[in-house]
Amino acid sequence: MLKIALSKGRIFKETLPLLAYAGIVPTEDPETSRKLVLDTNQEEVKLVIIRATDVPTYVKYGAADVGVAGKDVLLEQGEDGLYEPLDLKIAHCRLMVAGPPNLPPPPRRLRIATKYVNVTQRYYAQRGEQVEVIKLYGSMELAPLLGLADYIVDVVDTGNTLRANGLAPLGDPIAEISSRLIVNKAAMKTKSQRIKELIGQLQQAVADKATL
Ligand code: ATP
Ligand code: PRP
Repeated sequence: MLKIALSKGRIFKETLPLLAYAGIVPTEDPETSRKLVLDTNQEEVKLVIIRATDVPTYVKYGAADVGVAGKDVLLEQGEDGLYEPLDLKIAHCRLMVAGPPNLPPPPRRLRIATKYVNVTQRYYAQRGEQVEVIKLYGSMELAPLLGLADYIVDVVDTGNTLRANGLAPLGDPIAEISSRLIVNKAAMKTKSQRIKELIGQLQQAVADKATL
């Protein structure tokens, strides 16, 4: 059995064509089905539908053999206990500091709202700046609007969400983000042949997509 962990939404949509290239096609659509374990056309391959932030946990503990996770999630949670053999080059975005343009420096430590607490603390520590980091779980853009924080750290793609809320990206990206194939370390040994075959097929799919 090979269990592949994926989150619904953009990661599922963008991984599907790559899996198809590897000959793996789900028999149900997670956007319409309530099932969390989906059968595929290959009897021994299952797709497990998990929250994006939970994918590395399932793979680390071996509850899923492989998974697809955003680099933002991996940077935040740490990559110990996982192999990360392939950049799938999907779900591209940038991790950025953003806020109201031309904000005068506040007379206290900057407050940064984010769900990326570890990344944010590391980023400001490297710059030698002491900041207060406020953990949020979503809709970060609200925080500066309501005065909860001065800035946010979030992923930015088109910049539309920031613009719609009167915010702008500030400075250079903290990191360029795409989704990665992650593999459980034990499974890489015990299911070596099947997983290496999958990695090879996905590698080819990514390369062929790039030359289209
Ligand atoms: P959770 O459901 O656990 O809160 P989430 O809402 O961040 O996670 P998605 O929005 O599906 O889940 O994002 C999955 C991944 O896609 C993110 O980890 C990031 O790598 C990438 N991503 C997020 N937003 C964008 C975007 N606007 N454009 C491109 N890629 C994005
Ligand atoms: C993410 C992120 C931003 C937005 C950035 O949100 O938290 O809010 O995408 O994308 P943009 O720069 O293209 O506006 P989320 O995944 O929750 O929402 P989405 O599906 O609308 O992108």
